[in-house]
Amino acid sequence: MAEGKLDLVTPPPPAGNRGDTVTELLGQIADTGRDAARGGYSRPVLSGSERDLLAWFVEQAQRRGLDVDVDRNGIAWAWWNPSGADLRGSVVTGSHLDSVPGGGAFDGPLGVASALVAVDHLRARGITPSRALGVAVFPEEEGSRFGVACLGSRLLTGELAPKRALALTDPDGTTLAEAWGRAGMDPAHLGRDDEALARIGTFVELHVEQGRGLIDLDAPVAVASSVLGHGRWRLSFTGEGNHAGATLMADRRDPVVAAAAAVLAARQSALAHADARATVGRIVPVPGGTNVIASRVDAWLDVRHPDDAVTAAVVAEISERAAEAARAEGCELVVTQESFSATAHFDGVLRDRLTRVLSGAPVLATGAGHDAAVLAGHVPSAMLFVRNPTGVSHSPAEAVEDDDAEQGAAALATALEHLLT
Ligand code: GLV
Ligand code: MN
Ligand code: MN
Repeated sequence: MAEGKLDLVTPPPPAGNRGDTVTELLGQIADTGRDAARGGYSRPVLSGSERDLLAWFVEQAQRRGLDVDVDRNGIAWAWWNPSGADLRGSVVTGSHLDSVPGGGAFDGPLGVASALVAVDHLRARGITPSRALGVAVFPEEEGSRFGVACLGSRLLTGELAPKRALALTDPDGTTLAEAWGRAGMDPAHLGRDDEALARIGTFVELHVEQGRGLIDLDAPVAVASSVLGHGRWRLSFTGEGNHAGATLMADRRDPVVAAAAAVLAARQSALAHADARATVGRIVPVPGGTNVIASRVDAWLDVRHPDDAVTAAVVAEISERAAEAARAEGCELVVTQESFSATAHFDGVLRDRLTRVLSGAPVLATGAGHDAAVLAGHVPSAMLFVRNPTGVSHSPAEAVEDDDAEQGAAALATALEHLLT
């Protein structure tokens, strides 16, 4: 697919559901990317399900008369530009459509659906902005396929070098370059895009809240203050593959044992530093057989803290404990940083303006990463959060009440109206 061209097959919307509300829009994609084995949704970037979601987005944007294109970093843009304004300095909203494995229905798609409905609200309010409004969909926000979160916004802003991005591999060993080419896009054109970046005058991302802040405050919508600094590290333990029955306990060099010590060290180290979070959510033993002592284990560590120096200290502690455990087991350990994002504070003036126009909506920090946080280092950016009655995210239990979803889209429209007029 050449840049700017779309060759996606768009499925017809369900009869009677035109996608006029956030709930209707999300209803149209409720069966896309369902994961029967894990529960919830698995919508990895450039998979069939994620491409179907992109086709759905294009169809819904075109139904609204928006001009859609996909840029050289795989970011889809839909423009409402009734005044034919220069796109530089536009107001842009949007989110992502990819998911974590077995994720919920709202992380990402809520922001995309709300952006489309917000355009409807602005039209219904009789707004004819002199500037353009863009709706952007960023690829691989979760980093669940190629390991680096916010891949699209990092490429756009130059925070991720294209050479490194192209060499990233998915769990099957497919490189990003290969997957990009198979999706019909030219991997040669990845990288910082000053022209696309200059089109974003202000960015506002609406997102399901990934915590209990709005439950406790009894409010449907909040404005974000900051995103916790976070990073990912791969701990690769190498030992000796062997037979589970024929190898005496004293003769083993089992990397799973060393990895287990690293998991416990992560818990202990995070508990020893106030506000730290450390998680090992993915462990892959190789070759991975019940009666096989693994020859290697890869364990991925996610560490977050408001103070980036504390994050570094926690990672150093865990790495040291993991290295000790590896030595004791006769194994080797290699620790590789795969990504890091410093704590991001959203533009204070923009945050206060949005809080004012949203009638004193509460202000909340978040522990989850977002494309808006990457963009915040380059353009004035903000986020709105919509109440999640379970407080749970990255899980099928993630939830949003229908009424809150519509209130969120209306709040987004109000925020955009304020920025556009
Ligand atoms: C993405 O949601 C993250 O916080 O890792
Ligand atoms: Mn998200
Ligand atoms: Mn997420």
